[in-house]
Amino acid sequence: MADHGVNTGRRRFLTATTAVVGAGGAIAAAVPFLKTWQPSARAQVAGAPVTVDISKLEVGQRLIEQWRGQPVWLIRRTPEQLAALASQDGRLRDPNSEVVDQQPTYAKNATRSIKPEIAVLVGTCTHLGCSPLFKPELQAQPFDAEWKGGFYCPCHNSRFDLAGRVYAGVPAPINLKVPPYRFIDDNHIEIGVDAEGAA
Ligand code: FES
Repeated sequence: MADHGVNTGRRRFLTATTAVVGAGGAIAAAVPFLKTWQPSARAQVAGAPVTVDISKLEVGQRLIEQWRGQPVWLIRRTPEQLAALASQDGRLRDPNSEVVDQQPTYAKNATRSIKPEIAVLVGTCTHLGCSPLFKPELQAQPFDAEWKGGFYCPCHNSRFDLAGRVYAGVPAPINLKVPPYRFIDDNHIEIGVDAEGAA
């Protein structure tokens, strides 16, 4: 009976040892995976927020920056262009930006922006990803006799106004995306992060 007690104790010891070795092995095996999941320095840079100086962005002009491999447009809209936005509501698919994923909450407004005059938009067509053309003129165009400025995608004729809102009856299903952004000061915008903590 005494041997039985010893054997039981030894078995417990071996079991515990095996468990410890097993856990250690699992941790050792997990380390390469953890390393694999750490983003590389290059990936971190590619995903990092981008600061843009808009001090030289003239009224009516557009600046193009890259963020996460996508073009981001920054446009200083004229008073006339801003006034024309409201006149287009009846022709648009989502004039009130109801598709929540297409803009942060602070851009769910008539101009889809923090400051009315400065538009910040991801310049990728929401149909199949072409890059729409900047057509800021408030005058008739071959593709739209009532054009009030915006973006025209030549791939399949989608149209967006100067707030990135998609017109009804075109292939693109939703408005252009507004990325998360914030004003650092009057002349600097940070794209990719905002006061709500989005990134
Ligand atoms: S990709 Fe723009 S309309 Fe098709």
